[in-house]
Amino acid sequence: MRIVLGVGGGIAAYKAASLLRLFTESGHDVTVIPTEAATRFVGTATWEALSGHPVSNSVWDDVDKVNHVRLGHEADLIVVAPATADLLARAAAGLADDLLTGTLLMARGPVVMAPAMHTEMWQHAATRANVETLRSRGIIVIEPASGRLTGVDSGPGRLPEPADIHAAALAATRRGGALQGKRVTISVGGTREALDPVRFLGNRSSGKQGMALAEAALAQGAHVTLVLAHAEVAPPRGCDVVRVESALQLRDAVLAALPATDLLVMAAAVADFRPAEMVATKIKKNDDGTDPVLTLVRNPDVLREAVLARDAVPAREDGAGPLVIAGFAAETGDATADPLTHARAKLARKGCDFLVLNVVGSDLVFGEDSNEVTILGADGSESAPVRGTKRAVADAVIGHAAGLLAR
Ligand code: CTP
Repeated sequence: MRIVLGVGGGIAAYKAASLLRLFTESGHDVTVIPTEAATRFVGTATWEALSGHPVSNSVWDDVDKVNHVRLGHEADLIVVAPATADLLARAAAGLADDLLTGTLLMARGPVVMAPAMHTEMWQHAATRANVETLRSRGIIVIEPASGRLTGVDSGPGRLPEPADIHAAALAATRRGGALQGKRVTISVGGTREALDPVRFLGNRSSGKQGMALAEAALAQGAHVTLVLAHAEVAPPRGCDVVRVESALQLRDAVLAALPATDLLVMAAAVADFRPAEMVATKIKKNDDGTDPVLTLVRNPDVLREAVLARDAVPAREDGAGPLVIAGFAAETGDATADPLTHARAKLARKGCDFLVLNVVGSDLVFGEDSNEVTILGADGSESAPVRGTKRAVADAVIGHAAGLLAR
């Protein structure tokens, strides 16, 4: 997506640098337009280095490129953070006396403004009227956060956290996404298999890749349900969350969601085994010196069961098209075969539409922020390796699924 990030002249301008990074790290192309006053807080060199684009705030730079027309026209999204009282007033009045206000008048896509100012300014009748005017024109003006302001004062007027602005901005673009109207269920995190009331068998899944998938699906306009086992990171705003603990609970939640699902992505690390019995009271050390013996039994293969459930129903009751099902596989090569051969065999065994193959070596992917995968299709297709942040991988996976759903 092409994004214009407008930065107003307030102390919170420094937080816009974090917002810029959130956008660039999720694969977007961002042009920053600070106001003249904003450059007194954060210099243009910072914006240029972080965005990878030249930065100007004057309509008199690069006149041949007609930037005051082009940038607004080409932007899929314009985000202004911080939007000062002055900037809100100028935008409401329709002024075009610098590159940012001119760009706002040329906007074709959604415009999201995140205000930051002192409480008195935010509550002033002039600002209230300007916000109302902007909102009546379809501009999304996010409510400021409440808390510590620049000086000793505190109250409403604080710039919302960059992650919240990021989420609101992407939500504004969802109209018309590739998964608009589609229902996506994603299993995330690692299951925990209880041994007794205080102990469990778990795994190292961080849940980061699953959460990135949820973000990517939300960004494409999907309605997202997370079947969430244990994860280290919080789910993104805007999804329905069904919390589960064990593989059996995860199976029940996934199968229950299937009839209202268009795309199922099994990103969870589901334990293959669970203790044969869950002891109702805490297991004690034996006084006679014998050690307890743990007996494990197989858990159901949730992905396989979901495929079987889908294939058992020839047509869906609500008339929706066939459910697309995707799995993940982390594979190492061994004496018998390379990772790709193992993954192809797994894809055939599971019967899903595609498998996201993660080749793992000694550097495990658990908890890391970046990833490298290959998407293997049931039709024999194989994507070029997708390298990058977990969000970049998620965008590729969701994009691939959207292509299958559109068939
Ligand atoms: N999976 C599942 N239920 C299980 C185990 C795994 O649904 N009990 C899903 C995972 O969510 C993932 C895919 O199956 O999408 C592959 O997981 P993996 O652990 O690689 O598969 P296994 O069948 O357990 O294969 P292996 O014998 O290599 O462990």
